[in-house]
Amino acid sequence: MKWKEQILTLKAYQPGRTTDEVKKAYGLQDVVKLASNENPFGSSERVTKSIREYAESFAIYPDGYTTSLRQELASFLNVSEKQLIFGNGSDEIILMLSRAMLEPGKNTIMPTPSFPQYRHNAIVEGAEIREVELVNGAHDLDKMAQAIDENTAIVWLCSPNNPTGVHITDVQLRGFLDRVPEGVLVVLDEAYYEYVTASDYYDALEIIKEYKNVIVLRTFSKVYGLAAFRVGYGIADESLIAQLDPVREPFNVNSVGQVAAAAALSDQSFIEQCRTANKEGLEQFYAFCRENNLAFYPSEANFILINFNCDSNELFEYLMSKGYIVRSGAALGIPGTVRVTVGSKEQNEGVIEAMKSFLAETVKR
Ligand SMILES: Cc1ncc(COP(=O)(O)O)c(C=O)c1O
Repeated sequence: MKWKEQILTLKAYQPGRTTDEVKKAYGLQDVVKLASNENPFGSSERVTKSIREYAESFAIYPDGYTTSLRQELASFLNVSEKQLIFGNGSDEIILMLSRAMLEPGKNTIMPTPSFPQYRHNAIVEGAEIREVELVNGAHDLDKMAQAIDENTAIVWLCSPNNPTGVHITDVQLRGFLDRVPEGVLVVLDEAYYEYVTASDYYDALEIIKEYKNVIVLRTFSKVYGLAAFRVGYGIADESLIAQLDPVREPFNVNSVGQVAAAAALSDQSFIEQCRTANKEGLEQFYAFCRENNLAFYPSEANFILINFNCDSNELFEYLMSKGYIVRSGAALGIPGTVRVTVGSKEQNEGVIEAMKSFLAETVKR
C-alpha cells in the first residue's frame, strides 16, 4: 500500500499506565496520577449539573458551529465569534494547522523539549523539522528567529512550556514577533494559561490584535478539568480563522463537551480557587527541592520538572510502586528529571514523602 514514507517508522502515541493497571501491578489500594497535568480538583459542580440536565437526543449530530459555547467564549474573551475555532482538544487544532500548512519543501520551527505533537504532526505531513534547544528551560527565541527562512510555514511557541513550566515574557514575545515575517504563522500554545501569575506575562489577546500572523491555542482540558470531553480552541484574526476552518471536520466537537465547556467557563471562581491551590502546591515542591538541593525550574503551569540527577526511569518506577504515577524525564528528552503534576495538598505531601524515601534509599546504596 502507498503509505507516506515517513509513516512507516512513526510510533503511535504511547499512553501512560492507567491507575487501574498500576493498582493491579503493585497490589495497591490507592494510586494517584500526577502524569498528565490534569486538574486534581476535577471540574466545577456546574459541569456535572449541566450534563445531568442534558436532554438532547444522542442520535443527533453535534452543533457543527459550536454556537452556544462560541457565543459565551467570545463574550468572555471580548473577541468576535469569527475569531474562534474549536477542536477536539487543542491537539486537533495542532493537527488542523499542520494539515493546512505543512508539506514536503516547507519547514517548521519548534522548541525542544516541548509538547511532542508539534513534531509528530510535522512528520506526518512530511515537512522539515527545525528544533531549537531550550536554554535553562526557556525558548531560545533568538535562535528560533534565526532559523526562519522563505520556506518556513509555522513556528510553534509553548508558554508556559511543557515540560519545563517556563513562560515567555511580554518583552521577549514582542521582540521575537517583530522579527517574524508576516507570512509565517506563529502558534502560541497556552494550554496552561489560566495557571499563570507572572506579572511580566504578555496579554495574548492584545498580541493577536497587533500581530495578525499569530494564533493562540487554549484548552478546557487543564484547569477547567474537562480532559475527558476533548474541547480546545484557537483565537486569531478573523481572516486566519476563516482560512483554517475548511480543514476542520464538520462535527469535531461533541455535543456533551460543548455543554460541559460552557458550564465550566461560567464558573470562574472555581478556576480562581484552582489557580491559588496550584501556587500553594508549587511552593510545597519548591521547599522540598531547596531542602534537598535539587534543581528545578520555577513553574507557571500545574507541573514541575525536578532534576534528581539520577536514572529517571528508576525513580519513575519507584514512585509508581508507592502509588504515584509521574512522567519520567527520560521519556520527555530530559534524562535525570521527572515531571510531576501539582496535585492536592495531600497528594503533594504523599509524592514528596515517596521522593524523600527514594533519596534516602539511593544515598544508602
Ligand atoms: C502544551 C500542550 N498543548 C496542548 C495540549 C493538548 O491538550 P488538549 O488536546 O487536551 O486540549 C497539551 C496537553 O497535555 C499540552 O501540554
